Amino acid sequence: MLKTQNPTKTAAWADLDAHFQDMKSAQMKDLFAKDPERFKKFSTKFEDILLDYSKNIITEDTLAKLTQLAKETGVEDAIQSMFAGEKINQTEGRSVLHIALRNQSNTPIMVDGADVMPAVNEVLAKVETFSNRVSSGAWKGYTGKSITDIVNIGIGGSDLGPLMVTEALKAYKKDNLNVHFISNVDGTHVAEVLKPLNPETTLFLVASKTFTTQETMTNANSAKDWFLKVAQEEGHVAKHFVALSTNAKGVAAFGIDTDNMFEFWDWVGGRYSLWSAIGLSIACAIGYDNYKALLEGAHAMDQHFATTDLENNIPVILALIGIWYNNFFGAESEAILPYDQYMHRFAAYFQQGNMESNGKCVDRAGKPVDYQTGPIIWGEPGTNGQHAFYQLIHQGTKMIPCDFIAPAISHNQISDHHPKLLANFFAQTEALMTGKTEEQVRAEFATAGKSAEEVEDLVPFKIFEGNRPTNSILAKQITPRTLGALIAMYEHKIFVQGVIWNIFSFDQWGVELGKQLANQILPELNNDEEVASHDSSTNGLINAYKAMR
Ligand code: F6P
Repeated sequence: MLKTQNPTKTAAWADLDAHFQDMKSAQMKDLFAKDPERFKKFSTKFEDILLDYSKNIITEDTLAKLTQLAKETGVEDAIQSMFAGEKINQTEGRSVLHIALRNQSNTPIMVDGADVMPAVNEVLAKVETFSNRVSSGAWKGYTGKSITDIVNIGIGGSDLGPLMVTEALKAYKKDNLNVHFISNVDGTHVAEVLKPLNPETTLFLVASKTFTTQETMTNANSAKDWFLKVAQEEGHVAKHFVALSTNAKGVAAFGIDTDNMFEFWDWVGGRYSLWSAIGLSIACAIGYDNYKALLEGAHAMDQHFATTDLENNIPVILALIGIWYNNFFGAESEAILPYDQYMHRFAAYFQQGNMESNGKCVDRAGKPVDYQTGPIIWGEPGTNGQHAFYQLIHQGTKMIPCDFIAPAISHNQISDHHPKLLANFFAQTEALMTGKTEEQVRAEFATAGKSAEEVEDLVPFKIFEGNRPTNSILAKQITPRTLGALIAMYEHKIFVQGVIWNIFSFDQWGVELGKQLANQILPELNNDEEVASHDSSTNGLINAYKAMR
């Protein structure tokens, strides 16, 4: 069980509050000037990944106090509890064991007195056999043709993980297989994805932990109708539909042979499920060996997280820096900015990972919190973001801590694209930190031959305050192993923050209300009668929709 401790009532919090008064106007520029060793002190390596967290408004003292907060809020015990399979997802009475899915050391992990590893390994072996059959062309469709297109139908964690990873590792994709994703209940999604596909050579992976999610079931039924329109016989479904789920009954009711079901368990959270059978599309797309390397990378990060002292623990350091800005500086959001086109869904993936986990306002004792919890997560790949929203990050009124992520070696070495990309990465983090002073602006104008009168009006607009914090994550290359480690790093960061904020990170009750109301409203849309059972706005919208359609 996780301990219940209001973080703001700890001695460490009071200490941090006092320390914040000293640090709130500290300038990173000065901290760098004072200490030539700053980069060395505030950077660390994990395998081929360099994490530079020196461009933050922190000193060694700040980190020591934040680490003390982690200690007083029970982070060390919480990590051990998770790895021991304790039911730390208390509101759902479940263990939290995505770490078991990638436990390549195969040490026993017990849930309710039984080791989960044999079942995990069994499903992994099934994923290996199946993905090899599909990618080698040995798995045949109902007319005897090999599969050319895989369509993953899922939403949330049953979509974003496989989507993000297959995109991030596209350089490893098998040439003979295309992977597609359908998630939105908007019929446009299913229609557009299916348009170019041939039912004879298309394999659907219906990915749903619960096998009840409205969007996924609707899309899966439409895909089945599309398939049967051509294939005609219900019996052909077995060769073209498989299920990734915890719900065998639901799978059978849908008409998928449970032999074609890849099982996982209730101790796998949806947004932490790409390591489970939900990752089948990844294994098919990039090959099982690469999928395994992804798991191995995550496992290596898990071991680092579980065995390294808090002071040197990468996910803990990132979590603490995030808390420093969220709870003391009042930052409301964090941006994730990959300078790697393949990682274009990485921010979206962790938007769910982070916001569904830590978007909570009730603490572990069931009481409303009186402090800030999870931040808003957003981001786009560089350099596109630079021409869209970086203006606000540089000169807006809000502090937005940013994580910059880039590979040193691109999978596509074309002329000087990559040095240019990385020059932008380095320049942005430097500019965000140093800014530009009034003196520098005036000196630039003078060099350009402008008189003081000419430029006076422009000076204020050209000043950059700077002192905007960033973490820089530079990986040698985005390989399956490196990506696995990076994902696990962020997962554990989220976990540590949830522990400190005294909230439950592994449920998501907040998604329920909208779902319930949608189910109530749907039958009201099936007739032309005027609706009067809601508030006037909702009634007005529904009635307007009925009149327009
Ligand atoms: O959005 C809520 C949620 O439950 C997510 O946690 C989950 O990833 C998604 O819906 C899909 O759920 P399922 O895999 O059960 O279809």
